[in-house]
Amino acid sequence: MSIPQVLVLLGLGVVAVLAIVARVRATERARANAAIASARETIARTERLATTGRLAAGIAHEVGNPLSAIASYAHVVRLRAGDAPALHEPLDALEREVARIDRIVRGLLDYARPRRATPDAVRVDRILDEVVRLVRDQGHLRRVDVTWDVEPHTGGVRADRHDLEQAFVNLVLNAVDAMAGVGTLVLRARTLAADALSVADPRRRDDATSATFVHAPSARATTWLARQAPSGRVLQVVVADSGPGVPPQHVERIFEPFFSTKVPGRGTGLGLALVAQTVESLGGTIWVQPAREGGAAFVLLLPLEMPLAGTD
Ligand SMILES: Nc1ncnc2c1ncn2[C@@H]1O[C@H](COP(=O)(O)OP(=O)(O)OP(=O)(O)O)[C@@H](O)[C@H]1O
Ligand SMILES: [Mg+2]
Repeated sequence: MSIPQVLVLLGLGVVAVLAIVARVRATERARANAAIASARETIARTERLATTGRLAAGIAHEVGNPLSAIASYAHVVRLRAGDAPALHEPLDALEREVARIDRIVRGLLDYARPRRATPDAVRVDRILDEVVRLVRDQGHLRRVDVTWDVEPHTGGVRADRHDLEQAFVNLVLNAVDAMAGVGTLVLRARTLAADALSVADPRRRDDATSATFVHAPSARATTWLARQAPSGRVLQVVVADSGPGVPPQHVERIFEPFFSTKVPGRGTGLGLALVAQTVESLGGTIWVQPAREGGAAFVLLLPLEMPLAGTD
C-alpha cells in the first residue's frame, strides 16, 4: 500500500472515530436531558402533592367541626320528631349525606397525616395474606377468582403495617369495583435486583405475540430505578385484574386526590392518592400498566429491608 493510500485510510479512520464519539455524546446528552426533565417532573409532582396535603388538612379541620355540630343537631331533631313519619325520610337523607362528608373528611385527614419516621420492618407476603382474608370476610371476593403468586418470605420492608394494609385494601377494592365484582384478581410479589427492572418486565413465554402489554415502567418509576443501586434488591408487588383497565389519558391522573370516575357518593377519589402517598413515603414507587388479565396492573416497587431477621 502506498503512503498516500495509508494516509487516506488513516483519515477515514479518524473521521469514523470522530463520528462515533459525536454520536455517543449526543446519545448521552439526550439521556441526561431526559433524566433532568423526568427529575423536574418528579419534583413538581411532589410539590403539588405537598400543597394538596396542606390544603386537605386545612379543609378537613375547618369542615370537621361544623359537621359534628350538624350531626348532633340531626340527632336532636330525630329525638324531638318522635313518630312524625314525614320527618323520617329527610332525616335519613341528612344523616346519610353527613356520613358521606365525614368519610371525605377522614380520608383527607388520613392523606395529610404525617407518616411515622421510624416504621417497623414488616413481611409483605403476610400483609397481602391478611388483606385477602379481610376483603374475603367482607364478602367482596364471592365471585372473584384470586390468583395467588406471592413468593413466600418475600422479605421485609420498613413500613407502618396499618398504612401498607390500607394501601393493599384500596388496590384490591378498586380491582373488585372495576370488575363489577366478577373476574380474576391477581396478587404477585417477588424480590429482584433493581437492574433487572430497568429493562422492563420481560414478556412471558406463554404471552400471545400480538399482545400489546406496556412492560416499561412509567417515567416516574424509571427515575426511581435510576436512583437505586444496580445490585440493590427491591420488592415488586403487582395487583392486577380482568376489568376494563385504565385508559391511557388517566394513568397519571388516577393518583391525584379527588380523581374518580365513580358515581358521586360511590368514590371519594382519595384511595389511590393515599396508596401513592404511602408507597412514596416508604421510598418506593407505583405505576399502572395494562394487565395480562385484560384489566389494570398496579405495580409497586419497594426498597427491601435486609437482612430479613426481626421482621414480623
Ligand atoms: N383496577 C382499576 N381498574 C380500572 N380503573 C381503576 C382501577 N383502580 C382505580 N381506577 C380508576 O382510578 C380512579 C381513582 O381511584 P381511587 O381509588 O383513587 O378513587 P375511587 O376508587 O374512585 O374512590 P375511593 O376514594 O372510594 O377509593 C377510579 O375512580 C377509577 O377510575
Ligand atoms: Mg378506590
